[in-house]
Amino acid sequence: MTDTSPTVYVETYGCQMNVSDSELMLGNLAAHGYVAVDHPDGADVILVNTCAIREHAETRVIGRLGELRRNMKPGAIVGVTGCMAQRLGPQLLEKAKHVSVVIGPDGYRALPALIDGARRGERAIATTFDLEEHYEDFTPRRFDKVKAWIPVQRGCDYKCTYCIVPTTRGPERSRKLLDVVRETEAVVAEGMSEVVLLGQTVNSYDDGEFDFADLLRAVGRVDGVRRIRFTSPYPNDFTDRVIAAMGEVDAVCEHVHLPMQSGSSRVLKRMLRRYNREGFIESVAKLRAGIPGLSLTTDVIVGFPGETDEDFEETLDVVREVGFAEAFTFKFSPRAGTPATRMPAELTVSDEVASERLARLVDTIRTIARAANMRELGRRYEVLVEKEARRGGDLVQARTRDFKTVLIPGDAALIGRYLNVELTGTTGSTFTGQIVRERQPLPMAG
Ligand code: SAH
Ligand code: F3S
Repeated sequence: MTDTSPTVYVETYGCQMNVSDSELMLGNLAAHGYVAVDHPDGADVILVNTCAIREHAETRVIGRLGELRRNMKPGAIVGVTGCMAQRLGPQLLEKAKHVSVVIGPDGYRALPALIDGARRGERAIATTFDLEEHYEDFTPRRFDKVKAWIPVQRGCDYKCTYCIVPTTRGPERSRKLLDVVRETEAVVAEGMSEVVLLGQTVNSYDDGEFDFADLLRAVGRVDGVRRIRFTSPYPNDFTDRVIAAMGEVDAVCEHVHLPMQSGSSRVLKRMLRRYNREGFIESVAKLRAGIPGLSLTTDVIVGFPGETDEDFEETLDVVREVGFAEAFTFKFSPRAGTPATRMPAELTVSDEVASERLARLVDTIRTIARAANMRELGRRYEVLVEKEARRGGDLVQARTRDFKTVLIPGDAALIGRYLNVELTGTTGSTFTGQIVRERQPLPMAG
């Protein structure tokens, strides 16, 4: 590395898969002599790794591209990558004259060459899907020092009618189990002990030989792995084999993010989700029976075309019945080209109604979570310290295996350590805790 090494700055929007892709892009560029920097000003190359899941995600990026143009150093190369790049392709080059490279999720191998081309004044688009592409030979440059994002499946073959992901990430393909194990061994060698396996329907993992149960067991056997998480599973794709593996592999954490989307069978059907209300509740019951102490979080969309007050009440009912620890809640956002946009106009739910429902949903989830969290005070958990707390003041942020966030006194020296804590307070959603020193048993008298 010399003073003249070109610098690259990557800004990431959207899901963990995008974070993982950014790590792969930086790894690829590092192998080509680039040095990563934390700030766009002064960078030779600026990459914006984008999300297309909702309109809002895209509007933010458009605004951000304008901002970057005003502040970037003359001659800097700007690239747009990820789902929005895949979705908009040539339109991005047309709309944003300072952007010279547009690359979709399967095109990151071409990144160094396309940047070189951009230096010569070329503008290029790489948005062809490549079903073989898993970037096996890239060494990701990881942002996180405590947990490793490990993609195990790319793309999605499900066709939920609201969702742009099958269009932007292409068909589903699984990585070879042995490649996932190899990457797990590598991250453990770097000092990490938590892995998060990533895929759009991760529990339908199938590399032609092994399924998700095999994968969990194989990753769990890697020496030094203490926590395994995965996201996102599809609710009714949990086979008995997978649930058994989750229960038996010690490292698999007692938390599942289980995207429900709606609690109404009518809406689920129109979303083309492959389960109904009863099916979802059954999946929850099977998971809870197989994994004691399991905590569940979810995603819910309100205002999907045709959602009635009654449908929405059913969603609230299931939310109450299941008792999610937390939920990501969204207003339906029509995405061009998805089947949901072709539904009859009279089914459209007004923004006013959708907003009202969103507020009620958020309130319901919060109330339930708060009550559950109050009952946790005084209990003790093992936590893994992840980072310094954002609100500063000598606190670090840690997580329990079941995904509770706990702020505890301490500094950066604790990052990556496992501690026993007692939960001493809660804001309703997150906790404060104190480190517990296990009392040594007293020597026997006599
Ligand atoms: N494969 C993942 C979904 C990825 S998208 C899964 O099944 O969990 C993440 C979340 O965004 C989805 O679960 C859904 O709740 C939300 N979402 C996707 N498309 C949306 C849209 N058009 N409008 C609003 N929310 C959407
Ligand atoms: Fe989207 Fe449904 Fe796949 S939400 S990512 S199409 S499982």
